[in-house]
Amino acid sequence: MKDASSWDELYKKQDIKKLPWFNPKLDFDLQEFILKYNAEKSSILNLGESPGTQAVELSKLGFKVTAIDISRNAIEKARKLAKKNKVIVDFRIDNVINIKIKKKFDYIFDRGCFHVLNPNERERYIKNVYSLLNKKGYLLLKCFSYKEKDYGPSRFRPSEIEFYFSRKFRILDIIETSFNVDKKKKHPITLFIIMRK
Ligand SMILES: C[S@@+](CC[C@H](N)C(=O)[O-])C[C@H]1O[C@@H](n2cnc3c(N)ncnc32)[C@H](O)[C@@H]1O
Repeated sequence: MKDASSWDELYKKQDIKKLPWFNPKLDFDLQEFILKYNAEKSSILNLGESPGTQAVELSKLGFKVTAIDISRNAIEKARKLAKKNKVIVDFRIDNVINIKIKKKFDYIFDRGCFHVLNPNERERYIKNVYSLLNKKGYLLLKCFSYKEKDYGPSRFRPSEIEFYFSRKFRILDIIETSFNVDKKKKHPITLFIIMRK
């Protein structure tokens, strides 16, 4: 698992468009959630947000977006992307495990942050995301599935997700999906989990 300085080094060197998780469009599972649940365009916290594309797309839709990443270089690149797109996002350098933000949100979206944490950080993550959500707020988590063979710092079975999250959240859906930009392509195999406080 990478520490803050390794993430920072990566974002310093790398063209964000070449990152394997780069998606210039709004994640299609998030988009489907917004439509299916008729989600109000209110406050959303995007965790491990860089390269900023998801925060920018959410802001274009009318959400009030706060986006954090542990890497300063990532946040700087994301700020430039928001400026280029003429949208406002509250970007902050922050660590989800020792998060400084005090306000609460209606939604938290995590696309690929939980699965890069060390296993011993998971309980803190859950405690923090729980306290950052408003009553009945949604946690939307996208992480690698145990079925994925090629990618993934950590991969999860639905039963492990239930083990970690069901003490604090109502799990509404666990969808087998992918991290691909193209919905028709089924790899890398991923879980998209819809949870409610
Ligand atoms: C796999 S990338 C996903 C990027 C982005 N969510 C996306 O979908 O394009 C994981 C991101 O989490 C960030 N990260 C890792 N550990 C973190 C932590 N403890 N707190 C906040 N961000 C973290 C990394 O810097 C990296 O940008």
